[in-house]
Amino acid sequence: MATLSIQPGAPLRGTIAVPGDKSITHRALILGALAEGAGRITQYCRGEDCLNTMRALQALGVRIDESEDELVVHGKGLWGLTEPGGVIDCGNSGTGIRLLTGLLAGQDFFTVLTGDSSIRHRPMGRVVKPLRQMGAMIAGRKGGELAPLAITGTTLHGMTYASPVASGQIKSSLLLAALFSKGTTRLSEPRLSRDHTERLFQFYGLPLRRDGLTLSMEGRPAVGWTAVPTLSVPGDFSAAAFFIVGATIVPGSDVTISGVGINPTRTGLLDVLQRMGGDLQLLNRREEAGEPVADLRVRSAPLHGVTIEADLIPRTIDELPILSVAAAVAEGPTLVSGAEELRVKESDRIATMARELQSMGALVTEKPDGMVIQGLGHPRENGRLTATTNGKSHGDHRVAMSMAIAALTAREETLVHEADCIETSFPDFHRRLFQLTTATREG
Ligand code: S3P
Repeated sequence: MATLSIQPGAPLRGTIAVPGDKSITHRALILGALAEGAGRITQYCRGEDCLNTMRALQALGVRIDESEDELVVHGKGLWGLTEPGGVIDCGNSGTGIRLLTGLLAGQDFFTVLTGDSSIRHRPMGRVVKPLRQMGAMIAGRKGGELAPLAITGTTLHGMTYASPVASGQIKSSLLLAALFSKGTTRLSEPRLSRDHTERLFQFYGLPLRRDGLTLSMEGRPAVGWTAVPTLSVPGDFSAAAFFIVGATIVPGSDVTISGVGINPTRTGLLDVLQRMGGDLQLLNRREEAGEPVADLRVRSAPLHGVTIEADLIPRTIDELPILSVAAAVAEGPTLVSGAEELRVKESDRIATMARELQSMGALVTEKPDGMVIQGLGHPRENGRLTATTNGKSHGDHRVAMSMAIAALTAREETLVHEADCIETSFPDFHRRLFQLTTATREG
């Protein structure tokens, strides 16, 4: 298992790009596979999660040519997928397994989906139950609550469903099932979760209607959609988040991250950091594949604690681990509530972040639905975290990367063990961080 070594001391300076958005890459692969004809996906996320979805689609009979720079997906049309010869392994990816479950429920063949030990402990009932209401035949451990999931494809029918959770994965799984269903599906959620699937459906001209928090769609469109020649994936805001916080909390930093997706359903971190006193600029705004994109310039700034409540959680969900690092070196307390969804991510992120930050001297109290972090004050004013040689990822890529950024405020080297999990979303993380910190060490 790889150990990440982090040397503190140097400010972060320079311009970098981050990997393509993980959520959008999954969706671009799936919709590309259902399109008519071949399309290129450029700047895609080469993390293991997306590669597993790519392999799943290959197992479902879709030809995908893979190179470092692009994927060429040879779409087979709406009804072109075929039965895989074996079990499909989604690895560590909740998005992969939940979206594929929706996609496969309405096919005319049998599939088994599984994943690594973390995935086999994560809740699947949240998609299995509503899919069953559409007529899906899905079996799994604990009555379908846990993977492996065995899906006997069948004829689905539209339904009206109000999701109790604001979740891009639930919504997208059901929208993919709705595509193959007879009649109309109406979906609503308590707050707006990431809307990449809706945007991509609209980008491809699929007849999806939005009315506030309700979506409705006729299934089984008479005409499919044609592959777009090139779909360029915006940079992943959730990957950029580590450098946004890193540059904010390490004194003397000035970083520009180019080509980052700034879909408002994802960028709650920017609002929170601005409220905390962060120095952020959005430059060169543009649009790619129906998604807003910008270059982000971040300079270091002393932060103060804030309150983060339920209404902000869906827009901040994947950034709460790194936000807790920012809070740990802010002035005064930060309160996070309404974030119980963090407990069912790649790790229980309330527990794992509290434990790891405490091991670096942060003052963190766990709550059932969030945490209270008593900030130590900005590193320039000596509010530094303490180095640890025993940092743990808990098998969670975002915990590992958050720990690496936290370590930049310490005085000595920090080691984060079991850091291989970073591969799931950001294979190049260490190199990019090194690039930003050595820019100043070398001159
Ligand atoms: C994702 C949705 C979110 C997020 C995950 C990616 C997606 O999960 O945490 O990393 O691509 O739809 P939930 O839908 O469980 O909130």
